[in-house]
Amino acid sequence: MCGVVGYTGRKQAAAWLLDGLATLEYRGYDSAGIQVVSSSGNLHGVKCAGRVADLRERAAAANPEGTCGIGHTRWATHGAPTDRNAHPHLDGSGRIAVVHNGIIENFQELKRELMATGHQFRSDTDTEVIPHLIQEAWEGPAKGDLAMAVRNACDRLEGSWAVACVCADVPGTLVVTRKGSPLVVASTDDGAYAASDVMPLADVTSHVLQLNDYDVATLTSDGAIRIVDRDGRVVDNPTSFDIDWDASAAKMGGYSDFMAKEINEQPEAIERLLKDRLGEHGIELDELSLSRSELAAIDKIVIIACGTSYHVGLIAKVAIERWAKVPVAVEFASEFNYNEDYLVTDHTMCLVITQSGETADTLAAARRMRGMGCTVFAITNVLGSTAAREADGTLYIQAGPEVAVASTKAYTAQMIASYLLALRLAYANGRMTLAEVQKHYRDMEQVPDLMREVLNRRWQDKQASQRFRDKQSSLFLGRNVSSTTAYEGALKLKEISYLHAEAYPSGEMKHGPISLIEGGFPVVAIVPADHVHDKTVSNIQECLARGAVVIAVATDGDEKIAKMCQEVLWVPQCPDQLIVPAVSVIHLQLLARYVARERGYDVDKPRNLAKSVTVE
Ligand code: AGP
Repeated sequence: MCGVVGYTGRKQAAAWLLDGLATLEYRGYDSAGIQVVSSSGNLHGVKCAGRVADLRERAAAANPEGTCGIGHTRWATHGAPTDRNAHPHLDGSGRIAVVHNGIIENFQELKRELMATGHQFRSDTDTEVIPHLIQEAWEGPAKGDLAMAVRNACDRLEGSWAVACVCADVPGTLVVTRKGSPLVVASTDDGAYAASDVMPLADVTSHVLQLNDYDVATLTSDGAIRIVDRDGRVVDNPTSFDIDWDASAAKMGGYSDFMAKEINEQPEAIERLLKDRLGEHGIELDELSLSRSELAAIDKIVIIACGTSYHVGLIAKVAIERWAKVPVAVEFASEFNYNEDYLVTDHTMCLVITQSGETADTLAAARRMRGMGCTVFAITNVLGSTAAREADGTLYIQAGPEVAVASTKAYTAQMIASYLLALRLAYANGRMTLAEVQKHYRDMEQVPDLMREVLNRRWQDKQASQRFRDKQSSLFLGRNVSSTTAYEGALKLKEISYLHAEAYPSGEMKHGPISLIEGGFPVVAIVPADHVHDKTVSNIQECLARGAVVIAVATDGDEKIAKMCQEVLWVPQCPDQLIVPAVSVIHLQLLARYVARERGYDVDKPRNLAKSVTVE
C-alpha cells in the first residue's frame, strides 16, 4: 500500500525520491508526490493522481531544487485518488510537509477540533490532520524542535502511521516516525534515507536500521540519524540488518515483467531454501527456537494468513497432519480477528504465513494468538518485517524480493518452508523416523528440476490461454491438495486478468457451480495421477457433457486425459503427492500471466491491489 521515502544529504533530493518511489510502485498506489526543501528554506512540491512516470514528467517541468525531501505513493483510503488528495500534505502556514502510510482512526475528531481553532483543510484525507497538529506543536510547546513537534502531534493520533516530515524552517532536517506501519532508515556517506521498505535503499546501502513503534528519528544532511524512543530516551543501538540480496535482484534483468522473472526464479528459490537443511537430527530448523520436547508437546496448530499465503496454509495443514499427526486449523486472519469464541489448547502453536510480513490482518491475528498464550512462528520473505520481529521464531524463505503484486515464487517457497516445519515436528514428536524424514527431504530436492521442466513447457500455457479469449468467467476444479491449487490458480487469474474465476473442490461442483457451464465455458481441472484421479475425471466428463472447454493439468502419460480434454498442461511425474502442488501451480501462474497479457493488462501492477496490505 502507500509508500514513503525521505532523503537528506548532499545530492539533489528529487531525483532519488522519484527513483525511490518507482521501486515502491509494486506496493500498489494510485497517486504520488514529492516535496523538496531548498537550502534557502522554500518548500517545493509536485503531486498528481496517476503513476510515478506522470509525477516524473511534472517534476521535470517544475524542477524542484533542494537536498532534503519526502515522497509518497498513495493507495486511496480516505478520499478519491486525485491530485488534491495526493501526499505530501501541508500545514496551514505552508511550511511543514508530511507524507503518511497508515490510517488515522480519530482524524474526524481531530479535524473538527483543528477547524474550530481556525485550521483550514484542503483535502479529504485522514493524513492532513498530521501537519496541522505538527504546526500546533511547532508554534507551541515544541518551538524550534521538529522531532518534538512530530512526537507531540503523533501522541494525539489513533491508528497506524509511518510519517515523514520536513519543515522549511529547518532545511536539511528530516523527521520520521512510525506506529504499526513499516519504516526503515539508513545512514550513508551521501546522506540519510528513510523508506517504507528496503527496496529503494538497496541501491545505496546494504545496512538498514529499524524503528520500533513510536520511535522518532531525526535525519540530517551529514548522514547522521538520531533515534529517540517513546519515553524520550536516545536509542544507541537500534536493531539493524543487512540487505542480503543484490540490488539487481529487484530489477527486471531482461524479463518483460517482474511476474515473468519471479515465476522463473522459483527453482533457484527452492534450492536456496533447502540448502543445508538436512542434518543428523533431521531437518535443521533452529529458527523455531523450541526444544525437541517443546515441539513434541504441540497439540494443535493454528495457521493464520491471507490470500495466496492462506492457500499455502491449506497445503501446510495437509502436510502437518499427514506427517506430524498434529491437528491444524487454517484461518483467514481477517475472519479470525472477529471470532470471539476461538479455542486454543495449552500447547497450541500459531503459524503465521505472510510473504510481506506486513499484512495488517495477519499481524493483528498473530498478536491475538500470542495474547492467548500461543507460541508464534512466522514464515515470511521479508527480512526485518513486523511479522518476523514480533514472532518467537521466523523462517525466512529467502525467495528474494517479490515485486509483482501477484505472488508466485513466495507461494511455492512458503509451501516448501511449511514442509520443513512439518518434517521437523514429525521427527520431534516421534511420528517419523530419520529415514522417513530423509526420504521426504530428497523428494523436495527434486522440486527445482521438476519446476524447470514445467517452465520449459510454457508454450502449453500460452496455447491454452487462447481458450479464455472473450470469456467472462471460468471454473477451476481439483480434489484434495489439488483443490488448493485450483483456488490459487483462480486467484492468480482474477488478480491480473480481471476475468472471473470460481474455484471449487471438484466434488462440490454439482452442488451449485455446474449451472455456470455452457458451450465454450473454460474449466481448468487439476487432475494429477493420484488416488482421486478417477473421481475428478468423472467431474471433467460432467463439464464436457455440458459443452465446457476443459484445460486439464495432468501427469505425463495420462492417455485418458489426453483423449478427453481440449488442452492439457502436462506435469512430470512427481515422487510424492505433496510435491505435485509446488510443481503444477507453475502452469497456472503462467496461464494467468498469458491470459492477462493477451488482454493487454499490466501483470505486475493489477488495478486496485496492493502488494502489502497494511490496513485492515
Ligand atoms: C497474492 O497473489 C496476493 N497478492 C495476495 O493474496 C497476498 O498473498 C495477500 O495479500 C497476503 O499477503 P502476505 O503474504 O504478504 O501476507
